[in-house]
Amino acid sequence: MRATLFTSVASVLWTGSLTFASPTAKSADLASFISKEGQRSIVGISENLGGKGSKTPGTAAGLFIASPNMANPDYYYTWTRDSALTIKCLIDLFEISGGGYSISTKELETGIRNYVSSQAVLQNVSNPSGTLQDGSGLGEPKFEIDLNPFSGSWGRPQRDGPALRATAMITYADWLISHGQKSEAADIMWPIIANDLAYVGQYWNNTGFDLWEEVDGSSFFTLAVQHRALVQGSSLAQKLGKSCPACKSQAPQILCFLQSFWNGKYITANINLDTSRSGIDLNSILGSIHTFDPEAACDDSTFQPCSARALANHKVYVDSFRSIYKINAGIREGSAANVGRYPEDVYQGGNPWYLATLAAAELLYDALYQWNKIGKLDVTATSLAFFEDFDASVKKGSYSAHSSTYKTLTSAIRAYADGFLTLVQEYTPSNGSLAEQYNRNTSVPLSANDLTWSYASFITAVQRRSSIVPASWGEKSANAVPTTCSASPVTGTYQAVASAFPTSTGCVPATDVVPITFYLIENTFYGENVYMTGNVSALGNWDTSNGFPLTANLYTETDNLWFASVELIAAGTPFEYKYYKVEPNGTVIWESGDNRVYVAPTGCPIQPNQHDVWRS
Ligand SMILES: *[C@@H]1O[C@H](CO)[C@@H](O)[C@H](O)[C@H]1NC(C)=O
Ligand SMILES: *[C@@H]1O[C@H](CO)[C@@H](O)[C@H](O)[C@H]1NC(C)=O
Ligand SMILES: *[C@@H]1O[C@H](CO)[C@@H](O)[C@H](O)[C@H]1NC(C)=O
Ligand SMILES: *[C@@H]1O[C@H](CO)[C@@H](O)[C@H](O)[C@H]1NC(C)=O
Ligand SMILES: *[C@@H]1O[C@H](CO)[C@@H](O)[C@H](O)[C@H]1NC(C)=O
Ligand SMILES: *[C@@H]1O[C@H](CO)[C@@H](O)[C@H](O)[C@H]1NC(C)=O
Repeated sequence: MRATLFTSVASVLWTGSLTFASPTAKSADLASFISKEGQRSIVGISENLGGKGSKTPGTAAGLFIASPNMANPDYYYTWTRDSALTIKCLIDLFEISGGGYSISTKELETGIRNYVSSQAVLQNVSNPSGTLQDGSGLGEPKFEIDLNPFSGSWGRPQRDGPALRATAMITYADWLISHGQKSEAADIMWPIIANDLAYVGQYWNNTGFDLWEEVDGSSFFTLAVQHRALVQGSSLAQKLGKSCPACKSQAPQILCFLQSFWNGKYITANINLDTSRSGIDLNSILGSIHTFDPEAACDDSTFQPCSARALANHKVYVDSFRSIYKINAGIREGSAANVGRYPEDVYQGGNPWYLATLAAAELLYDALYQWNKIGKLDVTATSLAFFEDFDASVKKGSYSAHSSTYKTLTSAIRAYADGFLTLVQEYTPSNGSLAEQYNRNTSVPLSANDLTWSYASFITAVQRRSSIVPASWGEKSANAVPTTCSASPVTGTYQAVASAFPTSTGCVPATDVVPITFYLIENTFYGENVYMTGNVSALGNWDTSNGFPLTANLYTETDNLWFASVELIAAGTPFEYKYYKVEPNGTVIWESGDNRVYVAPTGCPIQPNQHDVWRS
């Protein structure tokens, strides 16, 4: 059964032999929950992976959908960030032969290679953030599941995606090198990675939208993962005899800028923007855990999980949710609480997220790993309040692993970390599905179901709990902060990658909705807008006040291109449509001729699109 994970066999395996006990009995056994939910998470991720995943009709091989949820909210897209974090989790598992989960290294590697190939294609897809030519298109946060650009308005660009993708790919490239496949790393992986590194080197000092896609500024998470990517990029370039000048010159400058996010009490998530928010945000917790280096000391400069800054920040972050969520009522400081993105969050009512509560645990497991490795733990003025939650009489000082203070503190902190997992256990439905959020009042799962990122977060958290850690990224030689910060980003060069790994599987036939991208060539003037409508509700049923808007985001002087990515048309549906323009004064101008006819494709419709020219 292990041979075919990315098929429905995996879900048979799940529903067959791994059913959960009743809610009451399950809370009795955290260890058993961890093992079952870990396997459930592997299945959840696999089902959301295009190629063979059972929940991804119409999705290109190697693309992860964020969630199978197609409405309220519609997450049936692929996000660069979520996908990169998820594949990194799978690459780390691949390197340890599946880490004890029921998944073969062959299935893992197929998924990894399909991912790499799909990203090579996406890098070259012109989109509303721009194109590959000057790198700008790499900042596009999400795409249609068939490799077409997403035409709707969005918080773009987001600059963490290329960095996270580079880190994931470098991890796999390093594995190839150490397993006698250096030429694949050099010839196939490097050109893709080099584009992302060039992007980071060129754009890190520009503002962009944060990982929650809401505010445009400078984001801690983005810069932290950018710093890491350039450090890793520099070392990969060296191993392959390639060059990455921006990696070497820009990494220290990013680290320098990162220091300004520490406000003396906690890490403020975003700067260079106007906001009334506190800046207390999961953004910073994620920044620490995704730049965790198992070989690092408790360095404040890189905000390592065991650093005084990260611990102080963890306390401020967790405490900020104690009084605002009803389900946290009565949970005192030092006991695990349900946590969300940031205290001021109102999205879907502002709730705890599974991946947040899991990240709060993961950071502590990371810190425990580091203290154990280093053989001591320091309590400083900055971290004192954090430690006092576990021993009210603790004093500033350095405690060796043999001291009783060390033992008291670390065992209390481990119990604290387990407390976060116990909350997740309590609020996971009996079928093991992890949604995006759970209700702040009632704990009922909420928002998108089966969120890929929730599952990946579960796996990384419980792996760290078992002291299974990813490879070092070289923090030790990259934690020195320059004395003065300067910013002189390097203009990159970018190249489309024609062929990556052969994609070994096709798509799952679309049985549900098919996203179709319509391209229209028409010379328009500023203020004139283009729409389409037709005899399906997705196109507004011939109502010109309810038509589907095309975007001019790809429109240039020489290429008068409008486009729209239309979702929610069932595969096989024949429909009629026509384009129209709305003049600045509101007048509607129809194109001439008969209604156009299109049949939403069935079968394997990767990149279904239609190219039209306005009929005047
Ligand atoms: C650019 O870098 C400088 C130097 O670190 C910093 O002061 C500035 O805020 C940065 N701006 C952006 C938008 O990143
Ligand atoms: C939680 O309860 C409050 C008070 O009754 C209510 O205003 C809010 O909408 C509820 N939030 C959610 C996410 O259900
Ligand atoms: C799992 O259970 C939840 C809560 O009962 C439900 O909403 C969800 O649809 C179920 N998921 C699956 C994949 O059956
Ligand atoms: C990259 O995109 C451009 C513009 O769409 C296209 O002309 C070119 O053929 C693409 N290159 C590759 C290698 O796919
Ligand atoms: C829409 O138009 C197509 C093509 O003419 C036709 O086959 C289909 O039945 C129409 N749909 C509706 C809902 O009228
Ligand atoms: C609206 O603008 C169009 C040109 O854009 C013009 O032809 C038309 O006469 C105008 N209609 C009215 C009612 O002003």
